[in-house]
Amino acid sequence: MESLSYQIGIGNLLASEALPGALPQGRNSPQRCPLGLYAELLSGSAFTAARATNQRSWMYRRLPSVRAGAFAAYAQPRWCPLEPAPRSAPAPWRWSPLPIAGEHDFVDGLVQYAQAGDPDAHSGMAALLYSATRSMQQRALLNADAEMLIVPQQGSLRLQTELGWLAVEPGEIALIPRGLAFRVELDGPQGGHRGYVCENYGAAFRLPELGPIGSNGLANARDFLAPQAAFDAGPAQAYELLRKQGGQLWRSEQAHSPFNVVAWHGTLYPLKYDTRRFNTIGTVSFDHPDPSIFTVLTSPSDTPGWANVDFVIFPPRWMVAEDTFRPPWYHRNVMSEFMGLVLGQYDAKPQGFQPGGASLHNAFVPHGPDSDAFDGATKTELAPHKLDNTLAFMFETRWRLQPSRFALEGGLLDAQYADCWASLADSFKN
Ligand code: FE2
Repeated sequence: MESLSYQIGIGNLLASEALPGALPQGRNSPQRCPLGLYAELLSGSAFTAARATNQRSWMYRRLPSVRAGAFAAYAQPRWCPLEPAPRSAPAPWRWSPLPIAGEHDFVDGLVQYAQAGDPDAHSGMAALLYSATRSMQQRALLNADAEMLIVPQQGSLRLQTELGWLAVEPGEIALIPRGLAFRVELDGPQGGHRGYVCENYGAAFRLPELGPIGSNGLANARDFLAPQAAFDAGPAQAYELLRKQGGQLWRSEQAHSPFNVVAWHGTLYPLKYDTRRFNTIGTVSFDHPDPSIFTVLTSPSDTPGWANVDFVIFPPRWMVAEDTFRPPWYHRNVMSEFMGLVLGQYDAKPQGFQPGGASLHNAFVPHGPDSDAFDGATKTELAPHKLDNTLAFMFETRWRLQPSRFALEGGLLDAQYADCWASLADSFKN
């Protein structure tokens, strides 16, 4: 892979130019921009949002985005279902790994598993998986509905965005702001790329507050990487632009690449993050903290503490708690939990929950360790133990997630999932 250089930080003001002198100095919109470029502002927050959450970037580009073709509807019913899914039972759900079949790129390989809320109301989220067997060619995606959190599970990706390139591999994540055009190239060995996506309709993902943890820990700001400006040089080339808006996809053709930004500065930009940099914090006495201790990024809702969606990881870590049931406890949660597995095993479900698979425990649906995990955890000698070679994650939301028709009827649903708790015995002794 050709190595890329990055800028550092999340929420910073960054600046980058692919050609010397392309970035105007001292003002954002001079009478004539350097190098004959057009200035264009991308506002990811309301103009009057507080400074800490204000996100906007100035782009200096060969042509402004207004030079676009007419839009026509584009059918991708697995991502944008044509009809609402049937109401689903309050059951625990689990899915086998998404097969990688046929020839398709990232956009056509997106499959919505569950969704809550309304992108038009800037509230809610969707949980998706993707598979891809080829790169997007002269084709870009602009998601006006959602910020897209991409979690590769198999195969590395190179993401070309309006603001430059990001390369991500399994174990890393990418974050594409709402309204920013990008395309996905498959990197490394070809023949099957797969991963997870959270479409975040709500407030942009940010680092969680640290409270008593202090000024360091969990995901550190300096481990978030942003692209350097890069643009398609050379003569204009025809491009297809897919735009998601209001839960529908639209397609247009234009005579030039949308990746024509020669310089930019601002606070709104795509990011990558390596989960191996996560400073995992846990108990050094007994019990284990709530899983919110594993929050990488949070999208707050209007109610403090009740996230529109949290991105939570379960990375390799030491288990040292004394006199403690170490796996996750049994619980019911007002929040809804969509889980995926990038690699290895998850400690509450040593079997059955597979990389590329998924599970969903909606609000107040009981869940917890399966019978084997309970047996093992209650009988094992509690020596320090490293949970290694594992990466599970969760999109946790205050909204109830509605499984899609594909999720319910697409053949991947594990109808026997609830049986994993069937052999839990009543061992009560009076
Ligand atoms: Fe849970």
